[in-house]
Amino acid sequence: MRIDIITVLPELLESPFNYSIIKRAKEKGLAEIYVHDLREFSTDKHKRVDDYSFSKGAGMVMSIQPIEAAISKLKSEREYEEVIYTTPDGYKFDQKEANVLSLKQNLIILCGHYKGIDQRVRDHFITKEYSIGDYVLTGGELAAAVILDSVLRLLPGVISDETSALTDSFQDNLLSPPVYTRPADYKGWKVPEILLSGNDKKIDDWKHQQAIEQTKARRPDLYKKYLREET
Ligand code: ADE
Repeated sequence: MRIDIITVLPELLESPFNYSIIKRAKEKGLAEIYVHDLREFSTDKHKRVDDYSFSKGAGMVMSIQPIEAAISKLKSEREYEEVIYTTPDGYKFDQKEANVLSLKQNLIILCGHYKGIDQRVRDHFITKEYSIGDYVLTGGELAAAVILDSVLRLLPGVISDETSALTDSFQDNLLSPPVYTRPADYKGWKVPEILLSGNDKKIDDWKHQQAIEQTKARRPDLYKKYLREET
């Protein structure tokens, strides 16, 4: 998979892309990530990438010119299945979207900033607009890193335990059950007896029941989805 990220803050993406899952995906040749500095595409003599909003008092808006130049250059080099824009007013990003994106070959991610981008970019170039949650970040870079982390770990071979991505929270609309490791008794705090029983069927039933209880208590919205999709 190839991902091209367009940003005004390339430095902000150095750390998340050079450690952990994303680093592993790159090293194994499963992902190529290119970060492009939007300013390099600006024809303004001061390399400006924003301007005043036509709606008075609304703050600065990212201009169409450098964005159009960056996206057009990339598109002239190869085909992209999606041009993604990270923004708090996008559609909510979730595990299903991560699964969908993990099947694509070439993606562009445009990181939002300031009071947003000129609407004409959204109308003519953007194919998916994602918010990672109901809160406002300073820019879309961290959202892009979150999205990529969740997508790249789904690529076969990126994480060592093949089954673990499939049993993550949310794959079946349930949160994960609690997990324990040794020692079985730590200062009198004991691991549930059933997990020490060696009875795989009983352990699986317990885990499923715990996942249901956790989801009901913490995420009634997800639990409703689980019930709908189970039936
Ligand atoms: N940019 C600022 N806030 C954001 C959010 N919640 N999701 C995606 N991009 C953002």
